[in-house]
Amino acid sequence: NGLFTYDPGFMATSSCKSAITYIDGGQGVLLHRGYPIDQLAKHSNFVELCYTLLFGNLPDDEQYAAFQARIRNHTMVHDQINNFFKGFRRDAHPMSILCSVTGGLAAFYHDHMNIAEEEDRVISAVRLIAKMPTIAAMAYKYNIGQPFNTPCNELSYAENFLYMMFATPSETYRVNPVYAKAMDRIFMLHADHEQNASTSTVRMAGSTGANPFACISAGIAALWGPAHGGANEAVLKMLDEIGDDSEENIQRFIDKAKDKNDPFKLMGFGHRVYRNFDPRARVMKETADEVLAELGHANDPQLKIAKRLEQIALEDEYFIERKLYPNVDFYSGIVLKAMGIPTNMFTVIFAVSRTIGWISHWHEMLSDSYKISRPRQLYIGNDQRDYPQN
Ligand code: CMC
Repeated sequence: NGLFTYDPGFMATSSCKSAITYIDGGQGVLLHRGYPIDQLAKHSNFVELCYTLLFGNLPDDEQYAAFQARIRNHTMVHDQINNFFKGFRRDAHPMSILCSVTGGLAAFYHDHMNIAEEEDRVISAVRLIAKMPTIAAMAYKYNIGQPFNTPCNELSYAENFLYMMFATPSETYRVNPVYAKAMDRIFMLHADHEQNASTSTVRMAGSTGANPFACISAGIAALWGPAHGGANEAVLKMLDEIGDDSEENIQRFIDKAKDKNDPFKLMGFGHRVYRNFDPRARVMKETADEVLAELGHANDPQLKIAKRLEQIALEDEYFIERKLYPNVDFYSGIVLKAMGIPTNMFTVIFAVSRTIGWISHWHEMLSDSYKISRPRQLYIGNDQRDYPQN
């Protein structure tokens, strides 16, 4: 009727105003609260970035210490949550566990759920940031049949996650500092990315007044798909299928990706917003080199395939014309795999990182006036017709 625009995939719709993250896709720029991602990755850390995304500015020393202490205070999950896990099959995908257990947190933490109160929203945000690595590591331990580790609050956020993933009761676990740095970077690089599909989902769920745990669970569900957070897992599968870095093998996959009759896409390539190199991918590529060099895997076959594939694709007319560049997930999977993290945990780790982005957007939306998200449609069904009455 002329009042509405038809915009499938929201290619040209700004659904909200936001002061959290700025992306210039043409220039390959990503700023969080004004700070460039490469500077943050080099000089900051994930907890400091969480504070900055949530509250708007970098913390001073006192604010940082208080925020870190608050997070540490909430890293454990209620003991009854252990029972929740037992209802899953051992081979359940950890994303399905994460999605369900996160939604279930609302059943355990009903205090401070007045979403109109700023302090209550911050308490929920802190609880989520603190508990997400614990639940993620529990999902992994449950999968492999090992006992859960309780969080070790003397460690940094990234170290604690690695500890909960890999420590066993039978030996002393020492976190490799190169792994901890790489893990922290992975958390930082995935922390926020303005109105992507999962963040928009969180805002949409939040716009109904739903509780924060339910909203984040909705975000996790949206992240799971291979076009979004599932891409890092899909990249590794693709590199496995390519097999080696021979020109012939790689070209076969590139041709497949270019074939419009084949649904296959080059995983870890392309982005809705970036029409230039994803600035996160540059940092991730460096991290991949550092981690593999530390491990003595500088000649890692998958890294070799990835680098050659990137080179061939970037010289190919199809990718040049469409401005398709590697995105953050092209290299993150290689780093995670090198650190001994199984592929089915990759998207889980993305969800742990993105929790701060989701909850910051939810908090921002509720801090101002907002409307329930309710898009319209272009109806293409039948005209009115009568129900047959015999
Ligand atoms: N391989 C081959 N062709 C591609 C690819 C690719 N990876 N990505 C886009 N294209 C083509 C697409 O077929 C289209 O061609 P044409 O104009 O001839 O129809 C053109 O490039 C434009 O792409 P689009 O599908 O309209 O772009 P989109 O904004 O709708 O989709 C995307 C973006 C990320 C879903 C898509 O590029 C994709 O599926 N990439 C692979 C999956 C991936 O790596 N996802 C991770 C994204 S970054 C992390 C995150 O945000 O979660």
